[in-house]
Amino acid sequence: MATQPAQTVEDPDPTYPDPTGAELIAARPSLAMHAMDGLLLDGVPLNRVADGFGTPTWVYSAATMRTRYRALTHALGAAGLDAHVHYAMKANDRLAILRLFGREGAGVDVVSGGELLRARAAGIPGDRIVFSGVGKSVAELRLALAEDIAQINVESAEELAMLSAVAADMNRTARVALRVNPDVDAGTHAKISTGRAQDKFGIPYADAAALYAHAATLPGIRPVGLAVHIGSQVLSMAPYRAAYSRIAELVRTLRASGHAVETVDCGGGLGIPYRGEPAASPAALAGAIAGALHNLDLRVVIEPGRWLVGPAGVMLASVILVKQTANLAKQAGGARFIVLDAAMNDLIRPAMYDAWHGIVPVGAVEAAGVPTPADVVGPICETGDTFARGRLLPPMGPNSRVAILDAGAYGSVMSSTYNARPAAAEVMIDGGEIALIRPRQAIEALWADEHIPKSRE
Ligand code: LLP
Repeated sequence: MATQPAQTVEDPDPTYPDPTGAELIAARPSLAMHAMDGLLLDGVPLNRVADGFGTPTWVYSAATMRTRYRALTHALGAAGLDAHVHYAMKANDRLAILRLFGREGAGVDVVSGGELLRARAAGIPGDRIVFSGVGKSVAELRLALAEDIAQINVESAEELAMLSAVAADMNRTARVALRVNPDVDAGTHAKISTGRAQDKFGIPYADAAALYAHAATLPGIRPVGLAVHIGSQVLSMAPYRAAYSRIAELVRTLRASGHAVETVDCGGGLGIPYRGEPAASPAALAGAIAGALHNLDLRVVIEPGRWLVGPAGVMLASVILVKQTANLAKQAGGARFIVLDAAMNDLIRPAMYDAWHGIVPVGAVEAAGVPTPADVVGPICETGDTFARGRLLPPMGPNSRVAILDAGAYGSVMSSTYNARPAAAEVMIDGGEIALIRPRQAIEALWADEHIPKSRE
């Protein structure tokens, strides 16, 4: 979501015009518009994907994920950091994507036992897994210890006590980083801001040093470092600098009192320019980390999700119908509703965070049309099922197709089957090959595991 400037799907800001379709495509290296074949992703016509697999379908560019992973690791290395990328798999946990990053050498950041097992199923070894999250159950802690994962980020004194008991019982030692709440406002949407004192995450900064000292005395616990994560879709570097300098101060304090601090987990959150807003680069993030932590001889971990996969995915959808309405012309939106076969159950970000996603026509004929405002909506029975309001789009009709951009992160993973709509198909494009990585869910699968109790009448 764009926080700067503050346009949302509900509140278009006329002083900051939307990028045109051509601008959206030009800013994304994986996309191109072909005069005959229409919109291409890594050279593959998206019409061919839709013809083969139907719509709605998620389409991912493997090349974009690899390029972005390499750009990030390069920037961290160039800043002189001993840095390790743990992909925050909550952003997109498809096995094919985990395997791709695993092959690149990445680790993962998991937030549930389910994610841990999914990562293992994709071949990510335990020693490349970090476990974050504010409420890990005893069963999840047991699993983490049984898999001997690299690090558990502990978020409270209560969790530390739980982990110590579980580890002692299993006769294991947990490598623990304490996640500190630095009380820094990341300047992002309130629902994804995590580093303010009032947020549920992390150990209050003032308590962290004492808890670290306590951790060192507990059975089954080996404190190895600190962790911090201030929020998601963070577009400016100032909050990162503030958080990392507080962490650096804590590292010095701990070491001065004789504690070993080997690692700092710098979290994720690096934002992407959904709407062409000025966004921070990996080099800027690397600079912010190095600026605060250099000379401390630390192993640095980062946990990016969105930045790696967001721009690598599109949601491919078809127009069901275009509804013309005189009422709408009087309002802020357009004079027509473009009703898609994708909906908020597929991509919930606009409904949930007022997030802005680029929407471009797929067909070459449509792309050449003259744009006028339109509201782009799904067929679900809620007004919130709206992808965009007053969006400038060319004429479209039934069976025209659109691509909703930057849908690789927090897209399919947040889908539901609301309105008995099955999970959309997912496709990966790699080196010109189109691979189905998850078939469209069969309608019958929606109720296949349900039971109707015997009637008592
Ligand atoms: N590390 C921790 C501890 C996290 O909680 C998160 C995200 C990340 C890393 C990765 O953050 P990223 O680099 O992807 O920004 N569903 C929301 C975003 C929720 C983010 C939750 N935590 C959205 O669609 O905008």
